[in-house]
Amino acid sequence: MKKIGILTSGGDCAGLNAAIRAITLRAIQKYGWEVYGIHQGTHGLMRRPVDVLKLDLSFCSEALLRQGGTVLGTTNKGDPFAYPFPDGTLKDISEDLIEGYHLLKLDALIGIGGDGSQAILRRLAQQGGLNLVTIPKTIDDDLSHTEHSIGFMTAVNVATEALDRLQPTAASHDRVMILEVMGRDAGHIALTAGIAGGADIILTPEIPYKMETIAQKIKTLQERGRNFSLVVVSEAVRTESGEKSTIRDETGNSRYGGISHYLANRITELTGAETRFTILGHVQRGGQPISQDRVLASAFGVHAVDLIANEKFDRMVAWQNRSVVDVPIREAIEGYQAVDPNGTLVKTARGLGICFGDEEF
Ligand code: F6P
Repeated sequence: MKKIGILTSGGDCAGLNAAIRAITLRAIQKYGWEVYGIHQGTHGLMRRPVDVLKLDLSFCSEALLRQGGTVLGTTNKGDPFAYPFPDGTLKDISEDLIEGYHLLKLDALIGIGGDGSQAILRRLAQQGGLNLVTIPKTIDDDLSHTEHSIGFMTAVNVATEALDRLQPTAASHDRVMILEVMGRDAGHIALTAGIAGGADIILTPEIPYKMETIAQKIKTLQERGRNFSLVVVSEAVRTESGEKSTIRDETGNSRYGGISHYLANRITELTGAETRFTILGHVQRGGQPISQDRVLASAFGVHAVDLIANEKFDRMVAWQNRSVVDVPIREAIEGYQAVDPNGTLVKTARGLGICFGDEEF
């Protein structure tokens, strides 16, 4: 009989609840273990009493499979090794979290997170002797050693649907429509949705562009009788002079946003075309997971529990060659998965005549 904990950490995405459900079903049905859901990422381990919810089979309804967000809550703030206090100081509270794990008498912890969360959890595990298994999730799909992370495919679907909706209105008004998508420093959402949604121009941080090339593509389409153009841009694409487009939030931290506004103005200057931009934002993270994310999350959840049963720790579950596998967490977080400018999807897009703003088309 084991006791395991689950936490979700970092930005939410579609498919997290499907993973929580799969872990709980496998742990209880196959092994008869006790499962505790830890609230709000590592914050739940910091609170006293430790902030957890015992998960049982009745918790694992089909509704959970379909539900967006994370029922356990999450946080992308508060690195426990430099935790911000109201007086402005930063303190190392890692020992409190480790104590939380031991107070619960956990045999293992499953952390569902991106690279940043996994790095923090691994450091905690090494410092405090925690038995850790991780599950990759991020709409950015930038974690290495796994072809996909939970949440990415739903985000791509949302961005594709946005293009489907933008195309008719672009055509009705003879406009250039620009869709700005998330992805942090990786262009996977823009590239994949751009192909699926029939974009004319895809801009990603990995492929430098020239405004003149973009303008030329739009003019060529106009000359061929196309009265509209669709552009997809990743939020981390920079201006021509290399500046990031950022928005400062209420805490003074800056995050990506706004490059589509800059591009719209420049396209109008260079082509005379009427332009509009849409920043898709967190719509890409919420909502129901599509089937691929439900399946991926379910496979990851079952495998993570089996790893614990086999006492294999410090591993991240991963998807490779149509199979669920596991890799050392260290290797996964030390690597990075960017868009490969020579990869299949970029070649496919070029083959379709999609312009990346970098070369003749
Ligand atoms: O990493 C996921 C992500 O959605 C990025 O694509 C985006 O840049 C960022 O998180 C947004 O963070 P927040 O939810 O803090 O605004």
